[in-house]
Amino acid sequence: TMRNELNRLVQTVSDPNTKRVFDMEMQSFFFLFTRYLTERAKSQDLEWDRIKSPAAEQIVPYDKLPKATSPDALNKLAVLKVNGGLGTSMGMTGAKSALEVKDDMTFLDLTVRQIEHLNTTHRVDVPLILMTSFNTHEDTLRIIKKYANQQLRITTFNQSRYPRILKETLLPAPKTADDDKKNWYPPGHGDLYNALLHSGVLDQLIAEGKEYLFVSNSDNLGAVVDQQILQHMIDTQAEFIMEVTDKTKADVKGGTIIDYDGQVRLLEIAQVPSEHVEDFKSVRKFKIFNTNNIWIHLKSLKRIMDNEGMDLEIIINPKATEDGQAVIQLETAAGAAIKHFKGAHGVNVPRSRFLPVKSCSDLLLIKSDIYSLEHGQLVINPSRMFENTPVIKLGDHFKKIQQFQKRFKKIPKILELDHLTVTGDVNFGRNVTLRGTVIIVANEGQRIDIPDGCILENRLLSGNLTM
Ligand code: UTP
Repeated sequence: TMRNELNRLVQTVSDPNTKRVFDMEMQSFFFLFTRYLTERAKSQDLEWDRIKSPAAEQIVPYDKLPKATSPDALNKLAVLKVNGGLGTSMGMTGAKSALEVKDDMTFLDLTVRQIEHLNTTHRVDVPLILMTSFNTHEDTLRIIKKYANQQLRITTFNQSRYPRILKETLLPAPKTADDDKKNWYPPGHGDLYNALLHSGVLDQLIAEGKEYLFVSNSDNLGAVVDQQILQHMIDTQAEFIMEVTDKTKADVKGGTIIDYDGQVRLLEIAQVPSEHVEDFKSVRKFKIFNTNNIWIHLKSLKRIMDNEGMDLEIIINPKATEDGQAVIQLETAAGAAIKHFKGAHGVNVPRSRFLPVKSCSDLLLIKSDIYSLEHGQLVINPSRMFENTPVIKLGDHFKKIQQFQKRFKKIPKILELDHLTVTGDVNFGRNVTLRGTVIIVANEGQRIDIPDGCILENRLLSGNLTM
């Protein structure tokens, strides 16, 4: 059984200290696994008919928040970036946050700039904490080591490493504790709470007098510290605040806040029965989605961890190993914790606070001249005449980061672009300018090379072209 196999894994560790930590990790995993088995035996956890749109007071509009009067509250704040994910959908084998975004700076470098700026402007001491995973730890340390002698305090801690589960037998994929990386996984950003507790970082923060923690995804450069939200949290004594934003047709997949028997909860697409998925995606019934920018009252978190513990909805992530074996990963999402906290609610923030990089199309946009940097923050270039950013759709040939980097010798100038669609084997030279609506289609077996210095304005290119 799973229990025996996990015990066997623990026995493969010789160093007593490593063994103790690993054993604890396997126990947490086993707890999650047992919950998975019980829930699988029951039918759907959520009853669709009991799900309601959140009440007005459960989602507070950002522009109704009071202006922050004094920066003092910032001294009670710490910032945490969840940084354990790989960006596998972009073909990355290292941390997504180690990608260069602008001026040779990575996501992590820009985050450091943002917080340094906050600290120097207000003369406060907000520390930066990074949650890494076995997949991202090295990349992260490599980037932050250059800040070792700076004023900003940066702490890192590792999230859990759980064994992938063989789908057929429901047994762990790894044979030993140090078995190949491919047999393990980081169990989602919901692991944050366990990892904060077990690493000792939670106690350390509380001991330092920190009261609030602002959590966000490491690839979201829009998630800067906002004093108004912090002040609102203090004023309302809410133990947990989730920043949500208005949903557009492009973000149908994000989790949403629901009212379930009067309780605020997070609903993820993975929990939605297939017959209701269209309903879930509709912008009408669920108007907002979770940005994963989350504010947590630390002592309340500690109370919950010490008492009931976090019981987060399990997200089942089916995968296949390189050799084609079907495995499952049991994961959780940080936002699901909302149901455990008192006074928890959403704040509906401007879209600019949600600027993630989920794909190479997103990456092209933020690397381009549409954005410039101000103290590590991306701001829309003032010379852009339209209020919205261009819509960019790069095809499968640009899906992987290596392909993207090879196909763009240099990022084109797109200040006056409205829409770009690229499909097929297309390569961009240097100093290309794109304006208006540009569509480039290379069909199967064809190739299009956009030469250096080329300007394309409202053009449709297709066929086999070497211009
Ligand atoms: P995700 O991989 O969850 O994906 O990473 P996503 O496609 O961006 O989707 P959402 O936002 O969850 O819907 C989100 C953030 O969570 C971190 C990643 O590093 C990223 O910053 N993450 C993810 C972890 O820290 N640990 C994990 O196990 C998974």
